[in-house]
Amino acid sequence: MVRKTLIAGNWKMNGLLEDGVSLAKGIAQEVKKAGRKDCEFLVCPPFTLLSSVKKAIKGSKVMLGAQDCHYAEKGAHTGDISPLMLKDLGCQYVIVGHSERRTDHYESNELIRKKAEAAINAGLKVIICIGETEAEKDAGKTISVCTAQIEGSVPEISNAQNTVIAYEPVWAIGTGRTPTAAEVEEVHAAIRKVVSKKLGRAISNKMRLLYGGSMKPTNAKELLALPDVDGGLIGGASLKVADFMAIGDASKQ
Ligand code: 13P
Repeated sequence: MVRKTLIAGNWKMNGLLEDGVSLAKGIAQEVKKAGRKDCEFLVCPPFTLLSSVKKAIKGSKVMLGAQDCHYAEKGAHTGDISPLMLKDLGCQYVIVGHSERRTDHYESNELIRKKAEAAINAGLKVIICIGETEAEKDAGKTISVCTAQIEGSVPEISNAQNTVIAYEPVWAIGTGRTPTAAEVEEVHAAIRKVVSKKLGRAISNKMRLLYGGSMKPTNAKELLALPDVDGGLIGGASLKVADFMAIGDASKQ
């Protein structure tokens, strides 16, 4: 059973042109030097930087992703970006259902499922984010919340090639706090079971599950060594070349 590690940087709403290009160039250079065959690297800058970052990573194996998309191909949706536009620009991935979008833009599981389906149909791979709030964790609802999010936001057309699921406990994002390694493994193993029930065991065994939420060079080794953790979705630490690459290094088994 081979699931290639995926180290993904979610830059969120960070980076002006000069910084973004220099960050992307730095990552591309280090990824080339590292020459890893067992690990993929992805950067997801804001829409405004996609085009310049694409140029900056050209010739390296670093992949390009966006942080959100609309579910329609085109049309009257002021301010939105379609999956086809992202594909046209050279994106391979798009993140959907990040908790910041679920909160800031009131995105529902149903909307996220529609976005994921449209993105896959446009030829993109999706990273579908799930995760519980602190109140839900305290109420012992972590697994039930994640189960409902998977059931509601992962489309039927998802498979191990076109879909990655990122478990990001909301209370761990940007806080410096993380669940224990045992808690992360428990949730990831539960996610794999839910995926197996929904899409079948063969798909579930091959689908990559990322952990996200305050992943840093100091905690990455322990988290990335867990049997059901296949990589990381990294926010803050993906904005520094050295930290992002150190997390990549931590994934070496
Ligand atoms: P941090 O790594 O900054 O906690 O963010 C995680 C995240 O939300 C990635 O999508």
